[in-house]
Amino acid sequence: MKLFLDTANCELIKKWVPTNLIDGVTTNPSHLSKEDPNTKKVLLEICAMIKGDVSIEVVKKEPKDVYNQAKEISALAPNVAVKIPFHQEYLPVISKLVKEGIAINVTLIFSLLQALLVAKLGVKYISPFVGRWDDIDVDGMGLISDLRHMIDEYGFESEIIAASIRHVMHWHESVLLGADIATVPPKLLEQIMVHPLTEQGIAKFDADWAKLGKKELLS
Ligand code: E4P
Repeated sequence: MKLFLDTANCELIKKWVPTNLIDGVTTNPSHLSKEDPNTKKVLLEICAMIKGDVSIEVVKKEPKDVYNQAKEISALAPNVAVKIPFHQEYLPVISKLVKEGIAINVTLIFSLLQALLVAKLGVKYISPFVGRWDDIDVDGMGLISDLRHMIDEYGFESEIIAASIRHVMHWHESVLLGADIATVPPKLLEQIMVHPLTEQGIAKFDADWAKLGKKELLS
C-alpha cells in the first residue's frame, strides 16, 4: 500500500522524506491557503522533494479554463497528477486529458457511481472522501470497499486514494479494505510513531541489558 502525505507544508514533508516511506503528496486549495502565498514556489518545492506523484488541484471553474490550467499544472514537473473535482461539465475535459497522457486524480468522490464513471475514463487516481461522510453521520469506509470491489470486478486500472482521513481508524480500515493508497495528514503519521507497549518494551530491554554491566554487545 502506498502512503501519501495530505499537506502542502514543505517543512512537514521534508521531515518525512528521509524515511523513504512517502510515495506521494496530495495538496488542495485549503492546504495551500495555509502556506506561503507564492503557491508556484511551494508546489515546485514539493515536487522536487518527492519522487512519486504530487496532486495539484485546478482552481479554475469553466471547463475550457480547467483544461488549460490542467495542462499548465501537468507541465510544472514530471511527477504531477492534476486534481479535478468530480463534475458533469468536467467529464469531457477529464477524458481529453487522459487521452493526452496526463495523470488525473478525480477528487471529491462520494459515491460508487461517480467513481465508476471516472474509472471508465481511465483516470490514474480516484479519491473517495471518507471523513466528510463521517462528518454527516454516514459510514464513509463503505465507499472504499465498494470501489475496491468495482475496480477488481471490472478490471479498471484506476488506483483508490483513501482521502479525507481524519483519524487512525480511517487509515487502519483503508489498509484492511484494500485501498491502493492512503493520503494521511502528517499529524496522524506522527501519532502512530509512539506506542506505549513499544516504549515499555525498550525500557525493559535497556534495564535488562544494564544488569550485565557491559558496554559493548559484540566484545
Ligand atoms: C486529499 O486529496 C483531500 O484533499 C483531503 O484528504 C481532504 O481532507 P478533508 O476532508 O479533511 O479536508
